[in-house]
Amino acid sequence: MSASTVPPTLHWVGGLDGHLRLIDQTLLPLELREIDCRSVEDVWQAIRELKVRGAPAIGVAAAYGVCVGLQNVAAGSEAALFARLDEVTKHLATSRPTAVNLFWALDRMRRTAELHQGKGPRAILQSLLDEARAIEEEDRQMCRAIGRHGEKLLADGQGVLTHCNAGGLATADYGTALAVFFAAHEEGKRLHVFVDETRPLLQGARLTAWELAQRGIEATLICDSAAAQVMREGRVQAVVTGADRIAANGDTANKIGTYSVALAAQAHGIPFYVAAPTSTFDLSLDDGSAIPIEQRPGDEVASFAGRRTAPEGIAVYNPAFDVTPARLIRAIICERGVISPVTGEKIAAALQGG
Ligand code: MRU
Repeated sequence: MSASTVPPTLHWVGGLDGHLRLIDQTLLPLELREIDCRSVEDVWQAIRELKVRGAPAIGVAAAYGVCVGLQNVAAGSEAALFARLDEVTKHLATSRPTAVNLFWALDRMRRTAELHQGKGPRAILQSLLDEARAIEEEDRQMCRAIGRHGEKLLADGQGVLTHCNAGGLATADYGTALAVFFAAHEEGKRLHVFVDETRPLLQGARLTAWELAQRGIEATLICDSAAAQVMREGRVQAVVTGADRIAANGDTANKIGTYSVALAAQAHGIPFYVAAPTSTFDLSLDDGSAIPIEQRPGDEVASFAGRRTAPEGIAVYNPAFDVTPARLIRAIICERGVISPVTGEKIAAALQGG
């Protein structure tokens, strides 16, 4: 299977009474199966259980979740639609806490409905579906632009390392960190990608390795704990990861283990880049200390492939994300260009610039 024959990560099927279809990422790479989400509960669960995951893809899914959640009030009053909108957006906002794209997309949907207030429930629902489609399309464009800006930072023949999955599966299409590799590859640069397996849910091993294979990019899977050694052996000249939320000063939340990779990169003088769309910035937070970190069930750590690997009763701490301080980040690559050095001033200027 090649990238062109894989169905989209997520898309809307049909018209106003349609539904959201997405790849169930928990089954990859062993099985490629799409599932249909026809209720807000289906979408909530798909996000919560990581069937759809990755910050931008979560935002797109939530936007479509609002559409399925309002279908059964389209024939009623506008007041009923707004009451339901409030319920649906509040519920979807509880699905996962860290990726700010979720809240960003829900805000956009709320504002769209308000803008069309007075036009009747069907027209409002149509405007919401149009907005969700716009969020999806913009995400595709942002990813392509990130790829174009980011590939210039890489040279032919380099070894690069990434953590978790910030590819097409984590976005509407093409990815953020992986977009940088894909674009470099399309420019004829030969890269060798070291893929952190990304314990405990193995997004690197299951998803990133799968995406790179489809595009014919050379890749080597490593244990997360091997990253520093691989750097010491001189095999890596740049690190690129995605992000779930970037505070005003550039502190960046991403998958647990990213911070250790950034520290190791600094120790070896290797540039550490973050690739993320502007929808991942949260300027309401001064720094990373206020970013909510998702805590996940201990079983994810105490078991492997469905089998218990640790003694019953052992305490487990399982934060799903960590925060890399801005001082460890050489540059942030967003759709508007490359932000470097990573300072509050540079970020504010880049975000105002659009
Ligand atoms: O728990 P996940 O799989 O949703 O975590 C995903 C990540 O940490 C990604 O690196 C991040 O969302 C960026 S995706 C373009």
